[in-house]
Amino acid sequence: MVNELDPLLQDPVQPKDWTAGIERPQALLDELEEDPKPLVDLANRPVVSGRQFDRDTVMQLCRLAALYETTPALVQLPLTGKILISAFYEPSTRTRLSFESAWHRLGGDIMSITDPSSTGIAKGESMGDVAEMFNNYGDLVVLRDSNEQSVYEMLEALRIPIINAGNGIDEHPTQALSDMYAIFKWRPELLYAQVPAARRARIGIIGVPNRMRTVRSLLLFLALFPNAFEEVVVITENDVNFDEGQREELEATGLKLRLARDLDAELPGLDIVYINSIAWVGDTYEKLGKHLRLSAASPFKKGSIILHPLARGEELATDLDETPHNWYFAQARGAVFIRMALLTTLTQRIHRVMDTPQGG
Ligand code: CP
Repeated sequence: MVNELDPLLQDPVQPKDWTAGIERPQALLDELEEDPKPLVDLANRPVVSGRQFDRDTVMQLCRLAALYETTPALVQLPLTGKILISAFYEPSTRTRLSFESAWHRLGGDIMSITDPSSTGIAKGESMGDVAEMFNNYGDLVVLRDSNEQSVYEMLEALRIPIINAGNGIDEHPTQALSDMYAIFKWRPELLYAQVPAARRARIGIIGVPNRMRTVRSLLLFLALFPNAFEEVVVITENDVNFDEGQREELEATGLKLRLARDLDAELPGLDIVYINSIAWVGDTYEKLGKHLRLSAASPFKKGSIILHPLARGEELATDLDETPHNWYFAQARGAVFIRMALLTTLTQRIHRVMDTPQGG
């Protein structure tokens, strides 16, 4: 019998960008003056924690990302001749592939490790010794490891920059940079030194700050812009949500934090809804917030956006994908551009794309 052709095979592939036209990298670019200094200062540094960043550096990274996103012809392969060591010892779709896509788009070469047992680690080699070898083979390391300490053990031996791409339940700083890039593209006025009260955003974070690395890092980045956010509402089913001193550190910056349990009661007041339900612990993951779920029937505020670091589970219904609330796909797409900006900066190649003295 002749097989029926699957309808999906009958038509040419159609672009599916539900945020086309509402995502505005040009608007973000128009709000920001070019200032290469913070990026020059970041060259050759490791990126391990959100604590290392300041407001100006985040703004200039977002500016360079928007430049890359709006001006593909700008990319004259600034990383030609550079080699990335992409070491992912824990599963990843977005982080590994967007880092590797970013590096390829910038003209560099990549060596990728996706299984530590294919390296000397299987024979008991220490992370320090592996790092010592990495110094000889590449120009920058991106590491994901469920052991929180691995990135620090490598740091001691490395003479090339390392980026923490997720270390257990600790941090994921470049995911938070991607989150901030999405937020500032959505509302560039949140970058103003003084955001009028009526223009500030109220953000709800459905997640657990002391168990989720994405949430921990995002809060550190939000704390650099306390004037932009009316309130950060952490919506959680957990009883213990902060490590000792974590909440106090954030509030000391002026960030207004509140805890809540009733998601549907909060949604009508939220401009940004950030949701995550996974905490990676050891070799597996914990699902948190089982009853905190979003769907197209949820009582969202008009014009509000949803962010999610993904991978998604039952907390984020697929019927939201075709609604204007869906900014999570744009957030994942923008991760390529913000990582391009960061990689150009750390490898000391921004003089090839920005007006700065040689060596910057
Ligand atoms: N956001 C994120 O870290 O996704 P991956 O686990 O797929 O890298």
